[in-house]
Amino acid sequence: MKRIISVISLLTAATWLAAPIAASAEEDIGNAEHGRVIYQLGKGDAVPACEGCHAPDGLGDDGIGSPRLAYQTSSYVLKQLVDFSKDLRTDDTMYQMNDIAKGLTEQDMKDVAAYVHTLKTPYIGSNLDQLRRDGAEVGDPHKGKMIAEYGALAQGVAACQSCHGFHGRSAGRMYPAIGGQNYVYLQHELTSFRNGYQKFGAATLSKDQMGEKEDNMRVNDYMGQMRAIAANLSDEDIANLAAFLTLAKPTTAGNPRAPSH
Ligand code: HEC
Ligand code: HEC
Repeated sequence: MKRIISVISLLTAATWLAAPIAASAEEDIGNAEHGRVIYQLGKGDAVPACEGCHAPDGLGDDGIGSPRLAYQTSSYVLKQLVDFSKDLRTDDTMYQMNDIAKGLTEQDMKDVAAYVHTLKTPYIGSNLDQLRRDGAEVGDPHKGKMIAEYGALAQGVAACQSCHGFHGRSAGRMYPAIGGQNYVYLQHELTSFRNGYQKFGAATLSKDQMGEKEDNMRVNDYMGQMRAIAANLSDEDIANLAAFLTLAKPTTAGNPRAPSH
């Protein structure tokens, strides 16, 4: 019961925080043209071109576990780059993002965040058949859709769309787009949030505790919002959610335009 109440209070907070977002023109946070140069060419010796791993169209790559960045909410991209640069989040997939972010100034981060937001690459999602052929355990998108849209309240899981918007298309600002994200990456992040909860709960970590964080633990979510959700997901739920979300399209029936945040 206590858990359900805390989820509800988080949801109220989320609605409140999300309210003024729709009107904000968040793609204005940086100079997208300068961001494009960093994205395509890198910066000096320390920062390789982002497109080498995130692909020229920003779609990322299941083969190396890199995320889609195209169209992602710019303020969320900026927060992740800042978090990598301060080691509040660890890239435990290729062990590159922390050093890369340290090589960027805050203005560079804003610029590259603005650029990836402008990439209107269509939502394609992962090739689930290929992943199955490669031996991955791929979940059931229909079961994932139920949790994404209605939650699993008996398990203490709120509907993903209450924070991430319809089909996970983002609710702006702090709530990233998770629809159209890559399967392998989604599965890895959800498992990492759950592992982070198991060790630290949903609390904001002190600097010392940050040092105790291990691989496959993600704890940089504000107010532990994602850890509290992922804590109650089974491996099967995670696979089902990832299968649904990767194929989820941001548009609604009769309205072919995705929101611009
Ligand atoms: C060597 C490969 C590589 C390069 C080069 C690279 N990235 Fe990444 N990036 C990754 C991987 C792998 C992840 C996933 C990390 C994890 O598992 O948490 C990632 C994650 C991210 C994230 C987090 C996205 C999210 O949805 O939370 C951002 C933002 C990002 N990268 C931006 C950049 C930018 C900007 C550049 C160029 C300046 C860049 N990356 C260059 C491999 C790379
Ligand atoms: C109470 C609000 C809330 C709910 C409900 C919620 N999330 Fe999140 N989620 C967040 C926030 C906030 C972040 C960004 C964390 C950060 O700043 O690093 C996030 C991040 C994520 C990420 C990482 C995205 C990336 O690009 O790295 C994934 C994946 C995710 N959520 C999936 C889900 C799924 C699946 C559900 C439903 C089972 C869900 N979320 C429900 C608030 C929520």
